[in-house]
Amino acid sequence: MFLTMARASTDSEITGQEKFGRFNLRELLNSGGMADIWLVSDERGKPYALRRLKRELRFNFTARRRFSRGNEILSKLTESDHIVGYVEHGSDYLLMDYVEAENLKMLFARQDPVLVENVAQILIDMATGLSDIHESGYMHLDFKPENVLVSRNGAVRLIDFDLAQPIPEKPIKFSKNPGTPGYMSPEQLKREPLDARADIFAFGVAAYELLTNHKPFPGETPAEILAAQMAPGGLIAPREHNPDVPPALEKAILKCLEREPDRRYPFSGILVRDLQNALYV
Ligand SMILES: Nc1ncnc2c1ncn2[C@@H]1O[C@H](COP(=O)(O)OP(=O)(O)O)[C@@H](O)[C@H]1O
Ligand SMILES: [Mg+2]
Repeated sequence: MFLTMARASTDSEITGQEKFGRFNLRELLNSGGMADIWLVSDERGKPYALRRLKRELRFNFTARRRFSRGNEILSKLTESDHIVGYVEHGSDYLLMDYVEAENLKMLFARQDPVLVENVAQILIDMATGLSDIHESGYMHLDFKPENVLVSRNGAVRLIDFDLAQPIPEKPIKFSKNPGTPGYMSPEQLKREPLDARADIFAFGVAAYELLTNHKPFPGETPAEILAAQMAPGGLIAPREHNPDVPPALEKAILKCLEREPDRRYPFSGILVRDLQNALYV
């Protein structure tokens, strides 16, 4: 459907600074640890988001592998209204639909009104996005507000599949432990075997933060966060911070945040159903 990109640009060279293959680079949207995200347009002016592996990582094979497997996984997911639209990828770039949106971390930091107005739908759509990823047979493993795009009208799309993995038949142990400690489940922090229920825990952390403006398990280091997760008293219930949280929603979030994966939702589809029941009143 799409022409492949010009050969000269496949190895991360920007020819003449403003072009990438047949695309015009229009604006640097974001520059993260792994990649730069550009707003680009094709010859007809149609916008896309181009994610390019950072130049300095070109010879970093761990980074390259992670980047390509993330792109490969996104290309295999069943299309979803709550996952960024895939267009094409190469060894060091990913072309996606451009989402006119900001990430949830930025919106949250400035307490953007879009969050207050749409909080119920945002929660349901984030969980639906996760559930769609799981239905396709993958776990995200880096679910966090930075990887959730929210548009001005509250539409949600999940991004960044660099750490995604196929869902194992039974929990498996990974030799590496990437991810963001604040959103990692106890089994992840302890480097124990894990499965898609780690994403459900991460969702619980994000939902808790969004509703209460507090972190469920405060701490600066992975060890402190794990200690907070394992503390005998357990966490402060969301309604203690914010009495407006409906009890059924609180119950769903606490179930996501269970220490033991076996006590969490076994599938994110059930979480979506509970959120719908709790929020569509
Ligand atoms: N398809 C897209 N449309 C618009 N903005 C995007 C898109 N993809 C990513 N971004 C922006 O770029 C940021 C980083 O994207 P991400 O894929 O998470 O890369 P990384 O985490 O490696 O920096 C996002 O938080 C968002 O602000
Ligand atoms: Mg990211």
